[in-house]
Amino acid sequence: MSNLESLIQTKNKSVLELKNITKEYQDNKSRVKTKHTVINNLNLNIKDGEFVTIVGPSGCGKSTLLNLVAGLDQTFGGSIQVDDKPLALSPSTDRVVVFQEGALFPWLTVYGNIEFGLAIGKVPKKQRNEKVKKLIEMIQLTNFTNAYIHQLSGGMKQRVAIARALALDPKILLMDEPFAALDVQTKRMLYSHLLRIHDETKKTILFVTHNIHEAVALGDRVIIMSPKLANIKKEISVNIPRPRSIDHPFVETITKEIISESDGLSIKNGLIGIDPKNKDQENDNSTTTF
Ligand SMILES: Nc1ncnc2c1ncn2[C@@H]1O[C@H](COP(=O)(O)OP(=O)(O)O)[C@@H](O)[C@H]1O
Ligand SMILES: [Mg+2]
Repeated sequence: MSNLESLIQTKNKSVLELKNITKEYQDNKSRVKTKHTVINNLNLNIKDGEFVTIVGPSGCGKSTLLNLVAGLDQTFGGSIQVDDKPLALSPSTDRVVVFQEGALFPWLTVYGNIEFGLAIGKVPKKQRNEKVKKLIEMIQLTNFTNAYIHQLSGGMKQRVAIARALALDPKILLMDEPFAALDVQTKRMLYSHLLRIHDETKKTILFVTHNIHEAVALGDRVIIMSPKLANIKKEISVNIPRPRSIDHPFVETITKEIISESDGLSIKNGLIGIDPKNKDQENDNSTTTF
């Protein structure tokens, strides 16, 4: 194989392959045991360095899917491969999750939180120090190196959570609505930070959200999940060049296109929700058409 061929191969390599994923939950509400299929035969490939966003209404199975990839839930049908290896053979540090609430350790400083996983992994002190300092520079919190978590704003906390995840050098960074609890201004700032971090690290990112605008602003590809299908309804390529500005006019155009196509769901300010006129939809995914 020529150098060029091997380069092209590396560039197009799948880092994550989901094949025929099916996930059912047992319904415990009724006395008769019934099953509830949340994900039905889903296939998805993610390439090395790709930033993929999954968007869908609350309850459509986004966190369920992310938890399967993270290895937090091992009861499912189908197969998940990371770097051509079955999930069971891939170390958990290959797939690190950033959650909505940073789940940071309040008794540790910014430095301590980012260092934590490296210390557990027995990385020597000097290497740890270099890595943590670089990450703190990357999230632009050098002046807060020794601050405790309660001294940080919500946006800063999520930057620390991202740095803490990146410290483990995962193959895939998994993000579960990490900015959902933040105000609009803070979100916009974090989009810019995350886009820059993605450009700098070239990490593969799988990011789930119910905010269409956010999915388009960040992703190379937006995967739209449908609760009715318990699967992917549609994929949209976002061909906005990187480094990317969140104010690129295509962000609005593509967001509007997705909104105009998503009949059957209430969409307010670009957020997908369940139509309040039909509350039953909350318990019966089959009535939504997205
Ligand atoms: N541990 C569980 N046991 C039973 N049902 C669950 C469990 N976790 C999630 N569900 C159900 O699976 C569906 C998908 O949930 P989830 O993946 O959290 O959705 P999302 O992250 O898209 O909001 C929901 O209907 C939810 O009630
Ligand atoms: Mg969720």
